[in-house]
Amino acid sequence: MEHLVIQGGNKLYGEIDISGMKNSALPIIFSCILIEEDCILDNIPRVSDVENALEILRLMGAKAHFIEKNKVLINTKNISENICGYDLISKMRASSYLMGVMLSRFKKAFLPTPGGCNFGHRPIDLHLKGFKSLGASVVCDDSFVSISAPNGLVSRKIVLDKISVGATINMILASVFINGTTIIKNIAQEPHVDDLICFLNRCGAKVSREKNMIVCDGVNKLHGTSYKIFPDMIEALTYTTYLGITKGEILLKNINFSHLKFSSCIFEGMGYTIKHSNEELKVKINKIPFGTSVITKPYPGFPTDLHPQLASLLCFTKDGGIIKDEIFPTRFRYVNELQKMNAKISNIDNYVLIKPSKMRGATTDATDLRAGAALIGAALGCREESRINNVNYIVRGYENIVSKLTSIGGKIKIIKGDTKNGSN
Ligand code: EPZ
Repeated sequence: MEHLVIQGGNKLYGEIDISGMKNSALPIIFSCILIEEDCILDNIPRVSDVENALEILRLMGAKAHFIEKNKVLINTKNISENICGYDLISKMRASSYLMGVMLSRFKKAFLPTPGGCNFGHRPIDLHLKGFKSLGASVVCDDSFVSISAPNGLVSRKIVLDKISVGATINMILASVFINGTTIIKNIAQEPHVDDLICFLNRCGAKVSREKNMIVCDGVNKLHGTSYKIFPDMIEALTYTTYLGITKGEILLKNINFSHLKFSSCIFEGMGYTIKHSNEELKVKINKIPFGTSVITKPYPGFPTDLHPQLASLLCFTKDGGIIKDEIFPTRFRYVNELQKMNAKISNIDNYVLIKPSKMRGATTDATDLRAGAALIGAALGCREESRINNVNYIVRGYENIVSKLTSIGGKIKIIKGDTKNGSN
């Protein structure tokens, strides 16, 4: 298995181009099943989750491939009514979007229960309850889901029991062709929901979002288009945590500052100097950051996808802090790994308490995508060499992270093959 070797202690200086947002690319790629013409998607990150999503479409008979570095052509005119690629689907949470698009186009969907980052139970009850509200019948067990609506779906007012990005997206995907007006309330307001709505409307859909409600007027057909997806806010914020650990000054390009507003205030409170336009974010810090405490919330609150990376940063601050994860209360497998690096960190229920720590380089295992990103940050702050196993998790969501960090002074390399002398 590949692993990373990092020699920390260097300040970071320079500029980084932020990639397109993985969590936008995935629903938009799957939504192309609703469109039987060419779709050209730009700013698509070359990460393994995207490659897997394209492979699933190809296995179903679609054209789906990169035509330029970050540009993808998709045409699903000739796809099968049957979902293929079960081994890929069971690895990826985003494959849950196949339920909504297959129901919309073929009035049925049969697939393995979607996978996803392994930080605890990842239910899809809200998705299934929503499909039933729209008139579908659902049969599922621990391994497979079967959804069908042979007479088509019916427009309804749906109120989601809980704010869920995936369920919100699936209700939109299921509603675009429903005759009449479908209303979805208590929705997620993440930028990637708006990104999908923009894309679908560019293809002729009639979807609007008014605060925490989505209104969808059904149309008969969608047409192809060209579309550039939003930049990755979590990638930008991840590099911002790295700077607080290493010190220095970096310019993050190709961002959308409106997505980073709330989180930027947290970093300014920790002692960062932050200057921005809507497309660029300049972050600078040359002293030990102050600590902070946050509770993760649905957007625009503090994102759960930045929780592990902030925990790493807090190990290197004057006074540490507390993070409460209200979204994923079991997203704490990274804690043991940071403890291998001498972190004074402890998890109680859905809280983690971090004290200032004398961190040391060590061999650790990435346990999921954002945990892996957190371990990179911790290693960048240690003079001793660190090794991080399970790079496969990290490359799911961070395009070119080794070359990007190297370009701003990080000493990091990826070692292919397995010289198993790391942690087990
Ligand atoms: C999406 O996951 C993202 N994944 C996650 O990012 C992100 O952490 C999460 O949204 C929250 O922002 C993708 O976009 C591929 P949810 P999703 O439905 O849609 C509960 C990353 O690192 N819930 O908003 O699965 C759920 O357990 C990944 O990029 C139900 O109870 O998240 C959680 O407590 C990790 N029943 C809460 O809702 C359901 O049917 C929010 O989950 C669905 C969700």
